[in-house]
Amino acid sequence: MRFLTAGESHGQRLVAMLDGVPAGVPIDVAAIDRDLRRRQLGYGRGARQRIERDQVRIVGGVRHGRTTGGPIALEIDNRDAPNWERVMSVEPVIDPPAPVTRLRPGHADLAGALKFGHSDVRDVIERSSARETAARVAAGGVAKALLALVGTRVQSEVVAIGSVESAPTWDEAAVEASEVRSGDARRSAEMIAAIAAARDAGDTLGGMVALRATGVVPGLGSYAEWDRRLDGRIAQALCSIQAAKGMEFGDAFAAARERGSAVHDPIVLEGGRFARTRNRAGGLEGGVTNGNDIECRVAFKPISTLMKPLPSVDLATGEAAPAHVERSDVCVIPAAGVVAEAMLAIVLTEALLEKFGTDDAETLVASVERYRARLHPLGKRQGQGGGDLTEMP
Ligand SMILES: Cc1cc2nc3c(=O)[nH]c(=O)nc-3n(C[C@H](O)[C@H](O)[C@H](O)COP(=O)(O)O)c2cc1C
Repeated sequence: MRFLTAGESHGQRLVAMLDGVPAGVPIDVAAIDRDLRRRQLGYGRGARQRIERDQVRIVGGVRHGRTTGGPIALEIDNRDAPNWERVMSVEPVIDPPAPVTRLRPGHADLAGALKFGHSDVRDVIERSSARETAARVAAGGVAKALLALVGTRVQSEVVAIGSVESAPTWDEAAVEASEVRSGDARRSAEMIAAIAAARDAGDTLGGMVALRATGVVPGLGSYAEWDRRLDGRIAQALCSIQAAKGMEFGDAFAAARERGSAVHDPIVLEGGRFARTRNRAGGLEGGVTNGNDIECRVAFKPISTLMKPLPSVDLATGEAAPAHVERSDVCVIPAAGVVAEAMLAIVLTEALLEKFGTDDAETLVASVERYRARLHPLGKRQGQGGGDLTEMP
């Protein structure tokens, strides 16, 4: 499976295209719309999220609620687009808008203008903006639907906003009820207060999101080649999210300061099944899923657009000038968690299809069931009198 997105922040719409999704995956448009809504919510979002209510339109690859095996094309209209018709016109206009030239530190403005030779930073802003993450979330909805067929679920929870930290509760009802998507009511209130204080100071806040995938099929990814290692691929996908600056599997940064005996997860047998007494590895060893939940965290820098702008330079004049100010969020960590869910779901789907790749969902599910049934070698060997891995699908 592969996927691409297109579209500008204030253009007519965003587009996502997924190729390689098997036929027969049930698609619930309302579930995708729910995720799109979750991406727009959260204390600290700007006015735009109130203007727009994202909805997906599926224009290819799904018929009567099921994927057909053809490419899946998803569209999300930018409801604010009519206000930007002249600025975003595809055709040349007689009275072009004034170019954006005051570069915003922390955004792609300077790097993008240098790279593509733009003199109007609008040409950079419009595509580097995290508005694009709506298309990722819609594509992630398709991936989540496929993963559900094999019992895999992806969740996220905010575990830090600014300096306010909390442990993940994984209490889904509490997380979704919280304006900052933290299951800890006391920490939620502190996080909201921190965002309000940053807003009052004309400033912004970053934070951290915890991710968990349960029911993960063991053996996804590979240790055999660097680009097949699933930990590396998940890290790439998560760090590709706008403003994501770091991630860890399990509690990697704490583990780096400890001894191996305290860090690695002992292997035990429980009723003839392999099990672990803890999950500090975060569900991956050797770049391969080991059957434990995938647990990781992503760190996001504070929003770059500041209402009290940082010193910068004007691209057109080369003179010192405060950075451009554009309508903006104060804190997006609750939304970033929803985007991170989508990216993790997409990478897990790709890895699942690599291992069990077929053209239809029924065969995929049957292959996964057969594979899972023989992952318990003690029972299997006793029953069959020998190793049985020659039967790999
Ligand atoms: C869901 C989401 C919404 C965002 N909204 C804004 C915003 O309103 N204003 C802003 O300046 N940055 C926003 N960002 C962050 C910028 O897109 C990001 O700082 C920018 O792309 C540069 O980060 P990078 O160096 O990681 O690409 C948002 C990020 C995410 C994930």
